[in-house]
Amino acid sequence: MQRSSKENSVVLPRHIAIIMDGNGRWAKQRFLPRTAGHKAGVEAVRRVVKACVEKKIEIITLWAFGSENWKRPKQEVNYLMELFMASLSQEIKKLHKQNVQVRIIGDRSQLTENMLQHIAQAEKLTAENTGLKFVVAFNYGGYWDITTACKQIASEVQRGVLTVDAVTPELIRQRLTLKDLPDPDLFIRSSGEQRLSNFMLWHLAYSELYFTDVLWPDFGEAELDKALAFFASRERRFGCISEQLEEVEQHA
Ligand code: FPP
Repeated sequence: MQRSSKENSVVLPRHIAIIMDGNGRWAKQRFLPRTAGHKAGVEAVRRVVKACVEKKIEIITLWAFGSENWKRPKQEVNYLMELFMASLSQEIKKLHKQNVQVRIIGDRSQLTENMLQHIAQAEKLTAENTGLKFVVAFNYGGYWDITTACKQIASEVQRGVLTVDAVTPELIRQRLTLKDLPDPDLFIRSSGEQRLSNFMLWHLAYSELYFTDVLWPDFGEAELDKALAFFASRERRFGCISEQLEEVEQHA
């Protein structure tokens, strides 16, 4: 089990990334429209954010709308847009009081002026907060993130600001979203699917991957605790071998 060297307490992930999957199936099981599943999913978001604040997790990133979700029926796409905006408006004051910093990542070029204003206000209000960083990935995709970074780097090389040799993994990382935050230590996907589905492709390279059959609207603190216990049981080697990690631990 991973324990912090200083306090001998169980190690918590600094950054948790979640694919909140299974809203549609949750609704179907109850003979409800899919939208009811998404609405119930927001309740699960509330529970998880509250638990993360209480547990003093540093960062949580939730995927609320993927680049590929535009392919869903128009009515569902509209509902997801409205639900996100309504949740943001309703919750932002409470989040601010809890010292939570809200950030939205993703392609904003397809969002309406009204959405952009809401997002800007939420980010501005909470920008100086020092508690949990709550990142919502909206119209986000890993391909989009990496492609945007590549375009920026290509343009810098073309303008002579950057040489080709200066392009390193560290530099690419600096052109991605969340460049100022550590990568997720723990990735959670609900509903039994075991895929990354074009989520944070670059950032999840060394994350511990946790999959649960629980559908997202049923996810709460107890499920989060199971994921945290799984994380604490993992040995993270980052390409090294166990003995090397023990050496580092002894000298810490
Ligand atoms: C995946 O379940 C879920 C989504 C695409 C949307 C999740 C969005 C929310 C819970 C609202 C988030 C709001 C805030 C404020 C962060 P699915 O529809 O793919 O489920 P299925 O696989 O069972 O059909």
